[in-house]
Amino acid sequence: MAENSALDIRWGAFSSMHDPYLLANIETRPTDILITTAPKAGTTWMQQILYQIISGGDDTFSSIYDVVPWLERPQKNKTRDEVLREYAAIKNPRIFKTHCTYTQTPGHSDVRIILSSRDPRDCCVSFYHHVMDMTDEARAHAGLSVPASFADYFRRWMGFGAWFRNIKSWWPHRNDSNVLWLRYQDMKQDLENSVDQILVFLDHQLLEGQRERVLEYSSFSWMKNNAERFTRFSNSAESNFMPGGFIRKGQVGDYQNLLSPAQEEQILKMAEAELEPQCLDFLELKRA
Ligand code: A3P
Repeated sequence: MAENSALDIRWGAFSSMHDPYLLANIETRPTDILITTAPKAGTTWMQQILYQIISGGDDTFSSIYDVVPWLERPQKNKTRDEVLREYAAIKNPRIFKTHCTYTQTPGHSDVRIILSSRDPRDCCVSFYHHVMDMTDEARAHAGLSVPASFADYFRRWMGFGAWFRNIKSWWPHRNDSNVLWLRYQDMKQDLENSVDQILVFLDHQLLEGQRERVLEYSSFSWMKNNAERFTRFSNSAESNFMPGGFIRKGQVGDYQNLLSPAQEEQILKMAEAELEPQCLDFLELKRA
């Protein structure tokens, strides 16, 4: 196993949410399914959809992270090698969540990758609520702090740049045979159609009765009513969010309630500078 000092820089720098050692040392399998997203682009929703598809509809799990781990996240009270041993013990097909770029993603040309993208204006506003609705302990653990104002938060979100980095790195791979790219707005409009696209991509069939359960358990209302399953990490009784947080509104265009026209313009300008015009069209990134 590669030790810290021997880690290739391709795996990124260590943070409380990103351990390059896990990325460098996991042994991926062609049956693995990786959900890759920019933060707030519907990651947890995709974790739930995929787990429900693979399980045939299961409402008995207690934390989504028990059944769909967050690949690169360091875990409290476990060594990295213990985490890797747990990953190795999961039976096929394993499903993982990750926020990695293409380069940082282990097995990126062999594993099956499902990407969910969402309008950066909505991701920006959703992450603001994410930070504000976190418990103090969870916020400190994630290395975040309460911003002085929305403007202060916005400056930091733009500076961090995760949305732009994520999309830019994955765009050239959108047509790779092991990549399926779904858009949040399409999933909102017709979840069943998105589920069908995933089934074709995975070459997986649902048995009678399973489709209804998959759709019900992946609905916003079911996830909202069962929010505690999505707001706690494995082996933790404590929610990372205040009641009502995290599975919050789930709407397209909610940014209009918070972003000023100047802030919206900054996001669009940055997207135009970073991404190809075809990518902007595909994402439907237009001025209102
Ligand atoms: P909002 O904050 O806009 O409500 P992530 O899992 O990547 O952190 O994304 C969280 C966002 O996905 C939140 O957006 C959350 O409400 C939304 N979401 C979660 N489950 C959803 C569902 N079943 N349908 C639609 N949106 C959902």
